[in-house]
Formats: sequence, C-alpha cells, structure tokens
Amino acid sequence: MPSAIVLHQAGPAENLIFEPVPVGLPLPGEIRLRHTAIGVNFHDVYVRSGLYQTLALPGVPGIEGVGIVTELGSDVKHLNLGDRVAYIHRGYGAYSEERLLPANAAILVPAGIDDQVVAATLLKGLTAWVLLHEVYAVGPGDWVLVHAATGGVGSLLSQWAAHLGARVIGTVGSDHKMELARRQGCSHVIQYRREDFVARVNEITENEGVQVAYDAVGKDTFMGSLACLAPCGHLANFGQASGPVPPFEVSALFPKSNSLSRPSVFQHLRTTVTLHAAAAALFKALGDRILQPDHITTFDLAQAAQAHRELESRSRQGSVVLTV
Ligand SMILES: NC(=O)c1ccc[n+]([C@@H]2O[C@H](COP(=O)([O-])OP(=O)(O)OC[C@H]3O[C@@H](n4cnc5c(N)ncnc54)[C@H](OP(=O)(O)O)[C@@H]3O)[C@@H](O)[C@H]2O)c1
Repeated sequence: MPSAIVLHQAGPAENLIFEPVPVGLPLPGEIRLRHTAIGVNFHDVYVRSGLYQTLALPGVPGIEGVGIVTELGSDVKHLNLGDRVAYIHRGYGAYSEERLLPANAAILVPAGIDDQVVAATLLKGLTAWVLLHEVYAVGPGDWVLVHAATGGVGSLLSQWAAHLGARVIGTVGSDHKMELARRQGCSHVIQYRREDFVARVNEITENEGVQVAYDAVGKDTFMGSLACLAPCGHLANFGQASGPVPPFEVSALFPKSNSLSRPSVFQHLRTTVTLHAAAAALFKALGDRILQPDHITTFDLAQAAQAHRELESRSRQGSVVLTV
C-alpha cells in the first residue's frame, strides 16, 4: 500500500506522520498519479499549525505536485498513461506517494524541465504571474516592493518583475540573503530586521513611494507596506508568514488614494483556460531562463516535518521540495 503524510491533529511539525494510506481506483473525471516531487508551501504550515482549518482531519496536506499518470477514469480522454503532469489543487492530498486527482487539474509538463524544478516553482510561479499581471500590471519603470525577496514566491516575483522592467526593492530577513536578492534582480535590498524599511524605501524612491507592494509577511510589515505606497499605489497582501494582519480601518487608504487586495492564486486561476495560460507563461519563463530557481532544498516525503521546520526557520533561501 502506498504511504502518505497524515495530519491527525493540528500542531507542531512532528504531527506530520508518514503512514500507509489506501488509494482507490479513479472515478470518472479523475486520474491516479504517482508523485515524483511535491512542492512545500507556507500554506502547508498554516494548515499544519491550525491557523487555516481548511483540511478535514485526519487528512493529507499539500496543494501541489508533479508525477506520472498511472490510471485514467473512464471518461478521461485528454491524458494518457505515462504522461508527466503537474498540478495545484486546493483539495489537498499532495503529501503522498500516490493519489487520485481531478483530471482537469492536471497540466502537461513540457520536456526539458526537471520535476523538482516544477515542484519548486508551479504554485509559487503561478502566484507571481497573478500578482504581476492580474493584481497589478507591473510595467517598465514601476517601483515595486517585494518582501521576503529570497523566499519561494519572493525570488520568482523579484526575477519576473525585474524582467518586466520594474525597479525592484527587496526586503530580506538576514544579511546572508542580501547577495542573492541582488542577483535575482533587486536593484535595492533592505535587511528589514535591522533597517527601517519604510525610511529606506522613501530614501531610495526620493519620497515617491512604490507603485505596488507585494506583502506576504503580514502582521509585521502590513502598515509599513502601506506607508511605502506612492499616491494611487496598490498593496497586495497575499500571505501572513509573521501572523495575520489585525483589523484594518479602510479610511486609511484615502489620503493617498491607495488600493488594497488580498488575492488568492486559486481564485484568479479558477478556470482551466486561465490556469493553462498562466502555466504556459511560467514554463516559457523557466525555459527562457527569465526565472532561475537556483536554490531548491529537497527532503524525502517521509521527512516532511523537517521540511516544515526548515521553512519556518527563516534561514533558507528559495523553495523546499519533497521527493518520492
Ligand atoms: N495568496 C496566495 O494565493 C498565495 C500563494 C502562494 C504563496 N502565498 C504566500 O506567500 C508567502 C511566501 O510563501 P512561500 O511558500 O514562498 O514561503 P517563503 O517565502 O519561502 O517563506 C516565508 C518567508 O517569510 C519571511 N518571514 C517574515 N517573517 C517571518 C516569520 N515570522 N516566520 C517565518 N517567516 C517569516 C521569511 O523570509 P525573511 O527571513 O527573508 O524575512 C521566510 O523565508 C506566504 O505567506 C504564503 O502564504 C500566497
């Protein structure tokens, strides 16, 4: 019987238990998949800790993976046995050797892109695409603020924004991350645990402020990010690595005519057409080396608890991937 990581009770990383889990036959509209690599996301930490109570327990966490199609539901015609596919799926279940998946979630992976690279970049890169094209259309000359600029999403966001011609200011939580942030296209890097990032952004932009701030750190940075905005600038609060943002007075947006969003990649890419268009753009950016996910930390699936500790430690740069 294949095994999976099961969360029986929300809590610390050691609650992620590797154990046998049966996988049935695919129903119509489903496929069975044998994973080769699984992306680890901060979302998984929120679920494991109990901040998000979106996984029915006991349950198998994880929202993205890559693998080989091993069985097809009776009416699935657009995929073949042996196809290499990747997916993002908010129905969970990715921390597993094998799983059933809705067939319409599967995206064919082009040749030439390694499974671990796909697992390291699919959800994070699609998020970057949504943030740069749908939430705010970043263009040449825009000042863009990216928090946690060497993290999984942050590193792809910085590289892609710089490629679009933006002037990217990245924040990082330790000195050793500053060099990578620069290499990834940040023209200016702020170590925000020892520097006042609002004052530094004002100084760098000569008090203009940024056209868009991408903030997934949440509680610790939200008000500062707002203070960094230019008139009519936009704050995309797309995560909460430091904790949830406290209740907020909407009228605070008025003086600079700012706007605020709390985007979800799953909502923006809820149709198959949009999902596949965004994935094609991501795979092209990887193929063209616009995005270079150089820092991928891997763990065996059974070591998922260690992977979570690594993600929460703030010591790591780039993405974390589980291998099967
Ligand atoms: N809304 C969406 O659809 C969507 C989709 C994907 C991801 N996200 C969000 O994007 C963010 C990044 O996700 P990721 O998986 O790529 O993770 P990540 O950026 O690789 O890791 C989180 C980073 O946040 C920073 N951080 C700041 N304060 C922290 C704290 N108190 N504890 C831990 N980390 C802290 C750390 O970087 P420094 O040490 O450099 O500060 C850390 O490396 C998450 O908030 C996630 O929820 C949202």
